[in-house]
Amino acid sequence: MDVMEAIKGRRSIRKYKPDPVDDKTVEAVLDAARLAPSWANTQCWRFIVVRDAETKRKLAECLYPGNSATIAIEQAPVVIIACAKLGEAGFLHDHSGPATSKGDIWYMFDVATAMSQLMLAAHAMGLGTVHVGGFKIKKAEALLGIPEGFTIVEMTPLGYPVDQPKARPRKELGEIVFYEKFGNTGK
Ligand SMILES: Cc1cc2nc3c(=O)[nH]c(=O)nc-3n(C[C@H](O)[C@H](O)[C@H](O)COP(=O)(O)O)c2cc1C
Repeated sequence: MDVMEAIKGRRSIRKYKPDPVDDKTVEAVLDAARLAPSWANTQCWRFIVVRDAETKRKLAECLYPGNSATIAIEQAPVVIIACAKLGEAGFLHDHSGPATSKGDIWYMFDVATAMSQLMLAAHAMGLGTVHVGGFKIKKAEALLGIPEGFTIVEMTPLGYPVDQPKARPRKELGEIVFYEKFGNTGK
């Protein structure tokens, strides 16, 4: 599957078959994340692979009420939690302070980039995922023993999809692309 095909075919998957995903396959998708670009190649990301049913149940309890990914977190055979080491992405080489006026938020960018690659690779391998950001981070961090200096950014279930949901709508290029100056939609 080429990249455009993967980009166009990927969907957020919230219903999973119980079929297991073997370690080699999980490693292959994690490798796609590992190869992502990052701030000064600092690779602040860390990933936790959860297969334990009780941990997945407790992770699902961390999601905000009504989050449509709750059952997926509990039922998918694997959940991957994407964490970040703080103080690297967005910082000067000597760590004397933030390198941009955006401060210490670049870790979100790096982890999201890595997870995006992971998700496209998963889709190309017939697996489903969904970005899950709507959860109580502190509760999830306590559950997984996240140490000081690290944080959780997001999580995703990983498994074989029950079906391929319809594509969700996207804005047209004409609504989101400007030329030369913000707001100029004419070329
Ligand atoms: C940063 C981020 C956080 C998200 N958090 C959740 C979430 O907590 N629960 C959920 O069901 N979907 C979540 N999503 C999935 C979006 O709802 C989904 O990507 C969007 O509706 C487009 O659908 P598609 O991924 O199938 O194209 C999240 C997506 C992103 C990018």
